[in-house]
Amino acid sequence: MSVHKQVKRVTTHVLSEMKIRGEKIAMLTAYDYSFARIIDEAEIDVILVGDSASNVMAGYDTTLPITLDNMIYHAASVVRAVKRALVVVDLPFGTYQGNSKEALSSSIRIMKETGAHAVKLEGGSQVVESVERILSAGIPVMGHLGLTPQAIHKFGTYVVRAKEEEEARKLMEDAKLLEDAGCFALVLEKIPALLAGEVTSSVRIPVIGIGAGGKTDGQVLVLHDMLGITQEFSPRFLRRYHNLHSEIKGAVQAYISDVRSQDFPNDREQY
Ligand code: KIV
Repeated sequence: MSVHKQVKRVTTHVLSEMKIRGEKIAMLTAYDYSFARIIDEAEIDVILVGDSASNVMAGYDTTLPITLDNMIYHAASVVRAVKRALVVVDLPFGTYQGNSKEALSSSIRIMKETGAHAVKLEGGSQVVESVERILSAGIPVMGHLGLTPQAIHKFGTYVVRAKEEEEARKLMEDAKLLEDAGCFALVLEKIPALLAGEVTSSVRIPVIGIGAGGKTDGQVLVLHDMLGITQEFSPRFLRRYHNLHSEIKGAVQAYISDVRSQDFPNDREQY
């Protein structure tokens, strides 16, 4: 029987077993109790409380403004809903870069105040010291390479990363550094499928892709994008499984019309 069918609780160990057995890992973001409950019941393997909450929940243009307190609020709401999935929380911009002690104290706050199981941070060689320090406290760390949205003002755009040989070589080196530092998994965002496949077969830890082709050990999407709640974001890699935006809008319009016409509430809907 496949690993994900046997387990009651997904752990970092379960994910590495899945990689060894060639079972694909399914990961989605969530930021609140209600959605987390639905996707956990559907048996998603990993829930990422992503700093994409800055965009989809708070309406900012980038992931930079979201704070550690905001992330803790979202993560604690998600954890209260989850019985099975591994919950990973993004360390937000400015809470770990350039200072491994701050990285550790931010991670400790997340673990203590939310009950989540792991943290994620962006970057390669420049965050290795932070990864090691966080791990020294027994906190599992997921890495994130390729398009790293917290560095958007350095990149200038959200285009595909590591298309040139030099950047691809650096990404491969960073992946190995993060593995050696002790990361339990890596996210690769928006890089060529060929490179993502090479990284996946060069490291022993699970590699989860977003816009990184089909050769990674798993896939992650932003929940609000794959459900079609967000509309303006339409990259090639995004498969929409629903158009909740128009379904919700239609339901709200029907409600407004029922209120205005005094069809709602009817005799059975009152005391
Ligand atoms: O914040 C996020 O949602 C992410 C995913 C895109 C991997 O980091």
